[in-house]
Amino acid sequence: MTEPNPASQDRDAEPNPVPASQRAHPHDHNLEKDPALFRREPVSFVRRGARLNRSRQGAWDRMADTVLVPVPRDRADTSVARDAVFDWTQIFGRPGRMLVDIGCGQGESTAQGAADRPDWNVLAVEVYVPGLAGLMGLAERGELTNIRAVEANAPEVLDHLLPAGGVDEVWVFFPDPWHKSRHHKRRLVSPAFADRLARVLAPGGLIRLATDWSDYAVQMRTVFESDERFENLHPGERAGTHSPLTRVRAEGLEKQEPLPAEDALDAEGGWSPRFAGRPLTSFEAKSQKAGRLVFDLTYRRV
Ligand SMILES: C[S@@+](CC[C@H](N)C(=O)[O-])C[C@H]1O[C@@H](n2cnc3c(N)ncnc32)[C@H](O)[C@@H]1O
Repeated sequence: MTEPNPASQDRDAEPNPVPASQRAHPHDHNLEKDPALFRREPVSFVRRGARLNRSRQGAWDRMADTVLVPVPRDRADTSVARDAVFDWTQIFGRPGRMLVDIGCGQGESTAQGAADRPDWNVLAVEVYVPGLAGLMGLAERGELTNIRAVEANAPEVLDHLLPAGGVDEVWVFFPDPWHKSRHHKRRLVSPAFADRLARVLAPGGLIRLATDWSDYAVQMRTVFESDERFENLHPGERAGTHSPLTRVRAEGLEKQEPLPAEDALDAEGGWSPRFAGRPLTSFEAKSQKAGRLVFDLTYRRV
């Protein structure tokens, strides 16, 4: 995919179907003056256009009241006010185990998760408005009543909107890779992200990850392998010649020079089989067409 342009980071230039009353006021004098209210961490996304085509606008108009959970803001449109208090049982209209799909894109995996687990409450987190509208269309067509969504920055959602130990499963499928070394600080999956997950995941809760970039896959594996609060559900699996990492390196699949066999070998493994509940999204289909391999990882909160 195209690398997001950091220059336009978190810019809200496009028309936004979220009512202005639910957004921050960018020119609020006090907010601008108080540096504590600005984000300390770079965000992992670039806001893209919010314009909706006719069918997505229709889905938005019919479904937003039900699916979209208004978020109190204190800074940018995608921020979450630190004193936000949410009662998820009330928001979903029932108690239930909770699945959170972070960066849901067009919502294919969220909708699949909600259909596969009708007794779970499924929350999508996304900053891309047409993606949220796509999710609403899928929820409508599938008559999925167990989906809610927030238009917000995922780390802030984890910190301020979700209760400690209140989440049973988190999905992060194909987070933006931020290839250049100087942009690695924008990557969503980091030790700070693991801290956030460790807080919200219930004991025994799962984090499922997927990426089609080997160096991000290695970063994800390093983050969770070096964190005692998580255990790999597939330790040592698909190592050596069975490892997708070995193949990528040895065959030059990411358009780099192929490495000699001994340098390419991934002795560690730990990759999960493809998670059956993860559908082939339009994003992954493009990746497959480009000949890329996918790395799946699954960790359990100890
Ligand atoms: C490459 S897409 C993958 C979409 C989907 N998970 C899939 O598998 O097809 C990554 C998505 O994550 C969203 N995203 C990135 N950083 C985010 C953040 N901090 N909070 C919420 N969404 C984010 C982007 O807007 C984008 O839609």
